[in-house]
Amino acid sequence: MNKKTIRDVDVKGKKCLVRVDFNVPMKDGVITDENRINGALPTIKYLMDNGAKVVLCSHMGKPHNVFNEVISLNKKEKKAVEALPENEREAKKAEFLEKAKKDVKKFTLKPVADRLNELLDGKVTFATDTVGQDAQAKVNALKDGEVVLLENLRFDKGEEGKDLEFCKKLASFCEVYVNDAFGTAHRSHASTAAIVEYGLVDTAVCGFLIEKELTVMADSLENPVRPFVAILGGAKVADKLNVIANLLEKCDSLIIGGGMAYTFLKAQGYEVGASLVDMDKIEYCNDMIKKAKDLGKKLYLPIDTVVTSAFPDPIDAEIEVEVVDSSNIPADKMGLDIGSKTVELFKNVIKEGKTIIWNGPMGVFENPILAKGTIAVAKSLAETDATTIIGGGDSAAAVNTLGFGDKMSHISTGGGASLEFLEGKDLPGVSCLLDK
Ligand code: 3PG
Repeated sequence: MNKKTIRDVDVKGKKCLVRVDFNVPMKDGVITDENRINGALPTIKYLMDNGAKVVLCSHMGKPHNVFNEVISLNKKEKKAVEALPENEREAKKAEFLEKAKKDVKKFTLKPVADRLNELLDGKVTFATDTVGQDAQAKVNALKDGEVVLLENLRFDKGEEGKDLEFCKKLASFCEVYVNDAFGTAHRSHASTAAIVEYGLVDTAVCGFLIEKELTVMADSLENPVRPFVAILGGAKVADKLNVIANLLEKCDSLIIGGGMAYTFLKAQGYEVGASLVDMDKIEYCNDMIKKAKDLGKKLYLPIDTVVTSAFPDPIDAEIEVEVVDSSNIPADKMGLDIGSKTVELFKNVIKEGKTIIWNGPMGVFENPILAKGTIAVAKSLAETDATTIIGGGDSAAAVNTLGFGDKMSHISTGGGASLEFLEGKDLPGVSCLLDK
């Protein structure tokens, strides 16, 4: 990795603004997956042990209508209010604002601060605003080795809008800027890139999580122990266009499962019934099939598939399924998981691999009846001695939920970010940092 890290700078007594990705899944105010918090701990602990004053900042979700503590109506609500007779507008507006206030609470980082405080022996405080009075007071009161977590960056429109004034306020909390938010490194926002790009901080380095993510993924892509097997799944071809093209060049075998496989099957002239197909990506799939052939790479598609008459609603509903050949899906059926022959085929390819990258589930794994393909792939990966790298997002969630997390060499904390990395794109949150 050619970027400077926190090891390369003196942090003692300095205010270190650390961009982390604490956008963790929550249910009713309770954190349901702590991986991203745990992923940031080595950096935070290192900074604390080395006498830094640690100012953590993160986003949480996509809150839309609270800017600078002033909650306003979103576009849809505004329209609804304007459509009403004048004497009813104020009441409706008040109703929307009341609801918005409640919704905003869902996006607070307070539960994360509480959990972090437990993990870091009571050394963490929480600022109830992002760059306002409370944040300023708490940052100023920090002693060496102490930590403050600021409230959700996206409560201020300056974060996503890369507002200069907002960046200046953040920069006032910062003698050393540290980016350790791998999950958000593909976003060019105030706290991930603009604060550095505007020249507001002199020292901008990465933390240990970004360093680890990039080193592991870059090593596997550039110097894999071969055979190198890439497994791609997920719903749409369109989401993975460049990943397919880029991985085909690097890997020896490419396995394609999940919803995106049906567009490839259709491209080969098969009947795929009511399965999900990106019609405008048929040509692209043919190009990829040809590219694989030209490069001498093996491309594996499902040979059989689990079909149903309709997409399950709710997603985990009990459903009737049957298994049919992928070349012959009945016109009124849709494929929602790989079949058992495909599982065997994929397993054998995985068994041969020495480096394996997996991104995207093989079927609708949220439904136990349609999760078998994804579970089988996860299990094969857990059983191999190969280096196994799991892209973030759904495949990471699947591996963790199934209890195979500790059997993998690396599980990325970034969904979109790991995909963009696999596409070969530069990540703005990384390119802005100081080179070694
Ligand atoms: C993620 O969960 O992928 C990251 O935290 C980025 O979140 P975003 O898609 O809302 O920018």
